[in-house]
Amino acid sequence: MSSNSKIINQLQEKYQALGQDFDTHLEGLLHSKLITYWDYIKTDSLLNLQTQRTNLPDEMVFIMYHQINELLFKMVLWEIDQVAKKEGSVETSFFAEKLKRISRYFDMLTTSFSIMGEGMEIEQYNKFRTTLTPASGFQSAQYRLIEFASTETINLIDNRFRATIDRNTPFEHAYEHLYWQAAGKDYKTGKKSYLLTIFEERYKADFLRFAEFYNTHNLWTKFKSLPEEVKQDKDLIAAMRHYDYTVNIKWVMAHYNTANHYLNINGQTAEATGGSEWTKYMHPKYQKRIFFPDLWTEKELEDWGKDV
Ligand code: HEM
Repeated sequence: MSSNSKIINQLQEKYQALGQDFDTHLEGLLHSKLITYWDYIKTDSLLNLQTQRTNLPDEMVFIMYHQINELLFKMVLWEIDQVAKKEGSVETSFFAEKLKRISRYFDMLTTSFSIMGEGMEIEQYNKFRTTLTPASGFQSAQYRLIEFASTETINLIDNRFRATIDRNTPFEHAYEHLYWQAAGKDYKTGKKSYLLTIFEERYKADFLRFAEFYNTHNLWTKFKSLPEEVKQDKDLIAAMRHYDYTVNIKWVMAHYNTANHYLNINGQTAEATGGSEWTKYMHPKYQKRIFFPDLWTEKELEDWGKDV
């Protein structure tokens, strides 16, 4: 049987199994258009997604770089999802390959941050940002999903409340003490800022569902379920530490330094569009967000973010 007729037979079987008329599908091939690059990649749609709120040219850099970040966040989540949903126990090589991909995406996010840090005129930035209040990058839902998917919820709890929360704490209560609540919540009164309120109206239900699933399917839990000798593998441990450090120190510091560059002018700290106490909130030494705590020494944990 020639390879052509073999494929035709396979196609016939495929459509038969679906209860479809094979001849109609074959005829459809006679009339269908050939694919082009621009239809497949959706170039026109993609390049039409940048809408400025001012006429200042550097606002375009700001919008496009955020969109690039969101695309890379989606790529990170895509890989983690495959690890999380893999049937049975995760194989070492599969886990290591996915972790390396995820790390590469975050390396790109971190090394490219100078596009923000140095790529816009301070004067222009401080003009167009006034049209963006009260929105903030804080409201990037995918960033929150990456955190939930990378580690157990306990490691995302505000350092000040961590000792009071354990596995039996109701999820909703734990959620109220996630480290990022500090950007918009007065813990004494429980009152939330507009930034946080509007963010939660849009995403809280999704976050709770997602976080509950990932509390037992995240990268850290998956790593811990690997065979004992694999967990001792130096290269794998180095890759895990690299990812943790890149997300929670390098990216955070690149971001913090950028905020300082644009918002800290002549020693005067400007209020951020989201209204957080950002000089404190954004620094890793206060956030102490660490995805894989057992892979760091006591000293490293204690000094997290101090000398950067
Ligand atoms: C000129 C560039 C930027 C400045 C000045 C800046 C400033 C800030 C500030 C001050 C905050 C604290 C919340 C607030 O009060 O608004 C924040 C949070 C945040 N921004 Fe940016 N940002 C910039 C670029 C970006 C980019 C490119 C992204 C990528 C999506 C991003 C994502 C985030 C995220 C995820 C948070 C929450 C971080 C956390 O909770 O630890 N930002 N940003």
